[in-house]
Amino acid sequence: TSSGSMIVVSNRLPFVLKKNKDGSMVRKSSAGGLVTAVAPVVVNGGGLWVGWPGIHLEHPDTPIPESDPDDITPTAGLKSEKVVAVRIDPEVFDSYYNGCCNATFWPLFHSMPDRATFQQEHWQNYITANKEFAQCTMKALRSLEKSSQQPPLIWVHDYHLMLAANWIRQAADDENIPCKIGFFLHIPFPPWDIFRLFPWSDEILQGMLGCDMVGFHITDYCLNFVDCCQRNLGCRVDRKNLLVEHGGRAVRVRALPIGIPFDRFVELAEKAPVVLNTNQKIILGVDRLDYTKGLVNRLRAFEKLFEKHPEHIGKVSLLQISVPSRTDVKEYQDLKEEMDQLVGRINGRFTTPNWSPIRYIYGCVGQDELAAFYRDSAVGLVTPLRDGMNLVAKEFVACQINVPPGVLIVSPFAGAGETMHEALVCNPYELDGVAEVIHRALTMPEDERILRMNYLRRREKIYDVDHWTKSFLTAMGSLKTQEGDDL
Ligand code: UDP
Ligand code: G6P
Repeated sequence: TSSGSMIVVSNRLPFVLKKNKDGSMVRKSSAGGLVTAVAPVVVNGGGLWVGWPGIHLEHPDTPIPESDPDDITPTAGLKSEKVVAVRIDPEVFDSYYNGCCNATFWPLFHSMPDRATFQQEHWQNYITANKEFAQCTMKALRSLEKSSQQPPLIWVHDYHLMLAANWIRQAADDENIPCKIGFFLHIPFPPWDIFRLFPWSDEILQGMLGCDMVGFHITDYCLNFVDCCQRNLGCRVDRKNLLVEHGGRAVRVRALPIGIPFDRFVELAEKAPVVLNTNQKIILGVDRLDYTKGLVNRLRAFEKLFEKHPEHIGKVSLLQISVPSRTDVKEYQDLKEEMDQLVGRINGRFTTPNWSPIRYIYGCVGQDELAAFYRDSAVGLVTPLRDGMNLVAKEFVACQINVPPGVLIVSPFAGAGETMHEALVCNPYELDGVAEVIHRALTMPEDERILRMNYLRRREKIYDVDHWTKSFLTAMGSLKTQEGDDL
């Protein structure tokens, strides 16, 4: 059986709008995991996507442009009539997005409370923004044709919108519109002792419990959430079956680890021309420039590699792609400075006339070129201090089609570290250990590399992004489980 219509609600639409000089607007596609995963469901079904278009629209009736004719990303099929662009006052948006979302929830949920700021004004604007998203979602819900088969499914995403579900449920109840609501958090859910530092933490839980089902990447995040519901709100909970009782309803909590479009990355890797023209082995890092990604520790550990194993000098380089991100937030500006200095210092220390240890790209790379990097690197270095899942680890193994393959190193503090058992694991807080693990990866025998990579690739191919979407729909009760298709 198939699902009914779906309304996806996320802070960002799957594209951003850019203004041309003549005032007309064009779409720029973004190709993140969420987009590739969910876009086909909206494009192919009778669905809608509610989100912020990346610029502040002046008029409510500003038409959204269609996608470019030569756009081949999964969002290209998203017709403008399926898009509901949310308009929020620029000052409110700034305080909601840069303030509450990215200076409070982002660090707190990644268990870095010392980086978090707590301001009532930001929280007020978070409430205002979430109300606006909820109202737009209601508009979308009212506009759907009534289907006798299944009630529409509303799928709310991520830490920007933890309050919206509850208002959507209340409004839908008031207007007698049947619907099911699911929520998925793409970042970690922290332990209670950290979560309760947020002064208005009860309200967050109540907002999320407005859903029928709440999904997280891994079981640990589920258990943290259940724990918080019990200890903060006094809810009755069932840890074995992951249920939380709230307002006379049983809310389902599920671990649904996200996957990648595996076959698409294989295809990209097969097609991509060689861009890394070098005899040196490449260690690859690909991250948004974010303090959760452990970039400073990574560079320091890389420096230690040369101190401890000088035989690698002149033979190995780190290619680090750092994508500019949330550049209005101070912690991100500070990190940019720190990285620039560190790269300069390490390169200054080790560079020879024909080699330098670090190639640092501060910018965004397209998926085709990224696939070539993933394919031709000897080591994929994924060392976040904390990360909800980390898709880069999965994309790296998908693109490792050369024989013999390279080696993946992951941090145990990423969701990906939880399931990618055949990767080498290193604790990014212990720099000597990281240096040793890099050395081990660089010297690993071929047959061991082949064995490990085969297992890693097999798992990601089965548990790909389609599997994730299906698991979500199954957990919502919107898709009957086929035999053998259970997680
Ligand atoms: N990415 C990209 N271009 C770049 C760097 C990264 O398209 O130059 C993509 C990458 O392919 C991946 C996503 O950005 O799909 C990053 O996802 P991840 O889960 O690793 O981290 P997040 O940024 O969501 O914290
Ligand atoms: C993480 C979050 C996403 C977010 C993305 C990029 O993956 O889970 O919700 O969209 O980072 O961050 P940005 O602030 O640019 O949307």
